[in-house]
Amino acid sequence: MQSFSTFIPPERTLMGPGPSDVNPRILNAMARPTLGHLDPLFIELMDQTKQLLQYAFKTENALTMPISAPGSAGMEACFVNLVEPSDKVLVCINGVFGNRMVENVERCGGVAITINNTWGEQTDLNAVEDALKANPDVKVLAFVHAETSTGVRNEAKALCELAKKYDCLSIVDAVTSLGGIELDVDGWGIDAIYSGSQKCLSCVPGISPVSFSDKAVHVIQNRKTKVQSWFLDMNLIVGYWGQGAKRAYHHTAPVNSMYAMYEALLILKEEGLENAWQRHALGHEKLAQGLSEIGLELTVDKRYRLPQLNVVKIPDGVDDAAIRKQLLEDFNLEIGAGLGDHAGKVWRIGLMGYACKPRNIDHCLAALSTVLK
Ligand SMILES: Cc1ncc(COP(=O)(O)O)c(C=O)c1O
Repeated sequence: MQSFSTFIPPERTLMGPGPSDVNPRILNAMARPTLGHLDPLFIELMDQTKQLLQYAFKTENALTMPISAPGSAGMEACFVNLVEPSDKVLVCINGVFGNRMVENVERCGGVAITINNTWGEQTDLNAVEDALKANPDVKVLAFVHAETSTGVRNEAKALCELAKKYDCLSIVDAVTSLGGIELDVDGWGIDAIYSGSQKCLSCVPGISPVSFSDKAVHVIQNRKTKVQSWFLDMNLIVGYWGQGAKRAYHHTAPVNSMYAMYEALLILKEEGLENAWQRHALGHEKLAQGLSEIGLELTVDKRYRLPQLNVVKIPDGVDDAAIRKQLLEDFNLEIGAGLGDHAGKVWRIGLMGYACKPRNIDHCLAALSTVLK
């Protein structure tokens, strides 16, 4: 039989589409003793985590909490709770994750109407408004704020205004946006939002913060049918993550991962949300400048580029996979490949959370310029 030994990973620099480099403070937090998940001290930590999440999302929504599973579960939590069979959902697609939203709608028995925009471009607000006019019975407008597959920022505030104008709910994917660019759940009137731990929060993967407005909660509490997922039924989860010390068992929270989530949010609060957004913007400028100096071109229009996810055109004749392999093996540096239609044509360079710092940018530029020679 093969012999086994402890797995000791190398120290990589993670500059792909996520996970991003985890702050050592967060890794240390994870290594602390595990408490029972209904221990009063853990319940206190749950309450504080919710408050910090409200800060990060800029919301007073009472139903704000981390789901014990990755971003995809946050996505499902929003759709399975708000979409019932035959409900119409308008989904904006301009990359991989919009398509996943359609899958979610259909699996809930809903009807997805789609607005398709070219990958690399923004969702067209006029097309969304026309579709809302043509379909007055749309219940939900769903879109991705920061499309990780293309590096594009969609106009979340304007899209939420359209949702309000046409009297429908909004579901917003903020997996890559939370902590990296401006996001204002209450100010923009977002009804349901989900994110991920492993991008601009620089936490370990596997946790998905979500938040639901009072209007969305009312809709969930007055459904005609049961939520198809027992695990993600917010009516049940709220008994575990709800207010006060009286908590009912729902599932066993990943206790140490929640220590990590708490620490990540604490770090964000200490830095200040606006400062974190500013740090990502400055990091992007430095990277963009350096890339152009070594002859590499960013593909997304400056006006709606994501600072935390930089899409770079692969120069003609350059072997995508060979370069990424060399970066990993010789420089311990991970950058991302293109997804779907973009495979082989672009690289995705992440500047997310703890990974967004001058030292990493210099390391990435030096490594790229060496391997491209
Ligand atoms: C925009 C977006 N939505 C959803 C997801 C899914 O998150 P997870 O991989 O944590 O399940 C991702 C992951 O990269 C993402 O970038």
